[in-house]
This record gives sequence, structure tokens and C-alpha cells, in this order.
Amino acid sequence: MYQLIDGKAISEKVKAEIAEEVKNIVATGKRAPHLAVIIVGHDGGSETYVAHKVKSCEQVGFKSTKITFEADVTEAELLAKIDELNNDEELDGFIVQLPLPKHISEQKVIEAIDYRKDVDGFHPVNVGRLSIGLPCYVCATPSGIIELIKRYQIPTVGKNCVVIGRSNIVGKPVASLMMQKGCDATVTVCHSRTKNLKEICLQADIIIAALGQPEFLTGDMVKNGAAVIDVGTTRVPSDKTKSGFRLSGDVKFDEVAPKCSFITPVPGGVGPMTIVSLLKNTLLAAKGEIYN
Ligand code: GUN
Repeated sequence: MYQLIDGKAISEKVKAEIAEEVKNIVATGKRAPHLAVIIVGHDGGSETYVAHKVKSCEQVGFKSTKITFEADVTEAELLAKIDELNNDEELDGFIVQLPLPKHISEQKVIEAIDYRKDVDGFHPVNVGRLSIGLPCYVCATPSGIIELIKRYQIPTVGKNCVVIGRSNIVGKPVASLMMQKGCDATVTVCHSRTKNLKEICLQADIIIAALGQPEFLTGDMVKNGAAVIDVGTTRVPSDKTKSGFRLSGDVKFDEVAPKCSFITPVPGGVGPMTIVSLLKNTLLAAKGEIYN
């Protein structure tokens, strides 16, 4: 029988731990940690994510500031706001919600953020430090995945870990983290050009599916006793929900789950952990524990 990884419950627990720390900080007379979120335009998915981020800040006692720009904002205007936030001493960290409209360079925006306030962990300085094992802001989804693996005590040392997907914000950084000292997994990163994917997956003790293709990982690709982490969150049409869509993971849950030792559901697995990771980074920023 598999164990279902309850990301929602773990996220509530970590939030309670953060809230306790915030209380202690405020009790010493310091201001509460402060996160700002920039959102450009009115994409439904992005607005939902940002609303969750703001609400989570409230739950743990952080101050939060939401800055909204219309979709036709110029790159220069956005960069000017980033410069202002970089220099705002009352602000510990901030993020620019992605994706951005086509006329704005995401890379330019990411690199304009002071890496010491880059609580998303997207700036090349943080990415580089992560890859060589130095203290840094780790991006949210990989950090949430590692937290789940640690809290459920899923064995990683010497285990074969297969990551499907090579994105900059999930595949590559989670592979880095899984191979680092402490996790000590043997990591294989697969992608759209990988040959013999099924055979490679069948060797895996841990599979992290992060390619963004609904129900890609099927039962015949998973060995008995594997732990499966599903990072997929594709919106697919549904006539069973009020919103008209549902979230689909990258794993065919009904087929894969019976073979697993551990598996994350979608929703309620990795998703709730990502916001917690953002809160953790903001707390680290407020405490000056990574950079000061
Ligand atoms: N869009 C989807 N996920 C993220 C995230 O973690 N950070 C930002 N800034 N934008 C996103």
C-alpha cells in the first residue's frame, strides 16, 4: 500500500513554524518580514497564484505588498520599479510573477532584481550558488520537493533518482539538490530527446515528473516500491468543476499509485509547498541569513 504525500498538511505545519518565528522576531521590536509581488496584466492563473501568495503572507504574519501593472507597461517602467524595490530598506524580498507579456524580456527582468532580494531564486547568482552548493535562495518548487522528501523520510542516499524535464525552475535545480551532499542520490535527467525513457524510469527509486504533460508517466514505467513526485499542474477542461477546468498532474495516478511506496497527489502534493518555500526564503531574507 502506498503512502500519499500530503503537501497541504505539511505546508500548514511549516507555515505554523514560520508564524512562530515571526512572532518571536516582532516580540524583539523588529518589523515583520516584508514580501512584495509584482504582477503584470490579468492572466487568471497568475492572479490566482499571487492571491495565494498574499494570503499566505497574512497567515504567517508577514507584511505583503502587491504591485499591479497593466499588460501594456513598458519594460523600462517595470525595470524602474524593480530598481526602486531593490533600494527599499523596508522590503526584504520581492518577486515578479511570470510569465510576462511578450514585449518584456523575462531574463532582463530577473537579472535586474538584486540577488539579495531574489526570494524566487531565479537570479543567475542564486542559480550558480545552488549548483555549487553555497547558501542561496533556492527556487520554490525544487525546495518544496526536497522538504516533502525529508519530512516523509524517503530514502535518497545512493538511490537512483530520475528527473523528467530540464526546465530552469524545476528540472535542473531539483537535479542539483538531489545529487548534493545530504541527499546523495544518483541523478539522471531526462527530456524530450531522451531515448529509452521507459527503461530509465524502470531503474528509478525516485521519479520526479516535471515535464508539463498531463498523465505522461504511466504504470508500466514505474518499478514496484518507487517514490513518485508529480510536479505537473496543467489546466485541462472539465465539466465537473465550477471554473470549467481542473489541474492535471504529469502522472497517471490510478495506474502508478498502486506500484509506489510514496506518491504526491495533484492537487495537494507539491503545489502547496511552493508558496511555503517562498515564505521560507523571505524569512531568511528578513533575518539576513543568506546575504547581509
Ligand atoms: N510563475 C509560475 N511559478 C512561478 C514562480 O514560482 N515565481 C514566479 N515569479 N512566477 C511564477
